[in-house]
Amino acid sequence: MDLTKLSASLHDCQRCQLSTGRTQVVFGTGNPQASIMFVGEAPGFYEDREGIPFVGAAGKLLTELLQSIGLERSDIYIANVIKCRPPNNRDPLPDEIDTCKPFLLQQIALIQPKLVCTLGNFATQTLLEKKVGITKVRGQVIQLKHFVLFPLLHPAAALHQGNLRVPLKEDFQKLKTVLEQMSKTPFLPNASSPPTLSTSKAPSKEVPADPPTQMNLF
Ligand code: URA
Repeated sequence: MDLTKLSASLHDCQRCQLSTGRTQVVFGTGNPQASIMFVGEAPGFYEDREGIPFVGAAGKLLTELLQSIGLERSDIYIANVIKCRPPNNRDPLPDEIDTCKPFLLQQIALIQPKLVCTLGNFATQTLLEKKVGITKVRGQVIQLKHFVLFPLLHPAAALHQGNLRVPLKEDFQKLKTVLEQMSKTPFLPNASSPPTLSTSKAPSKEVPADPPTQMNLF
């Protein structure tokens, strides 16, 4: 299985109710060999229309933030936890996350990024497998079994709440430092082999199997 085949296999996905309201499945985009991956929540109006994650206002802000630390969209891979737009951009439901999560985990297993930046609560809680608020964990470097997790505020939240813009920018500056540190420091002590992932409906525990540990990069 490669990313193209995985994407094709989801083209006509009807595993959950979101299939009835979507225009198309929004699988993910970017560099399939990227060492940095960003994970958002779910496609919105523009993403549903274009079939590409983060092409609306939040996407423009994300692109600017990436550029502020010397990254282009083509340097990274971007996907969402949920691949189909929820009606009226409502929050994803737990069963929708459970249904779609295995495909995110498969994307991660195929791309094998060193660092995964989760944007907002849903992506962070999905990969951390813990109900923790994004404002508590944002900007922390968390070692999971196969990659380092770096949770960030969701750019859409910063668009709605102006007071979140500065912390989001600060976290991107920290991300720059983390990337510099990671390029010098050996890490991923447990990552001897890529994760084996299932595509069953049950939420997979494989990627974050070990308890997360706070990395001592600073
Ligand atoms: N918000 C997300 O979480 N994902 C998108 O693709 C767009 C907005």
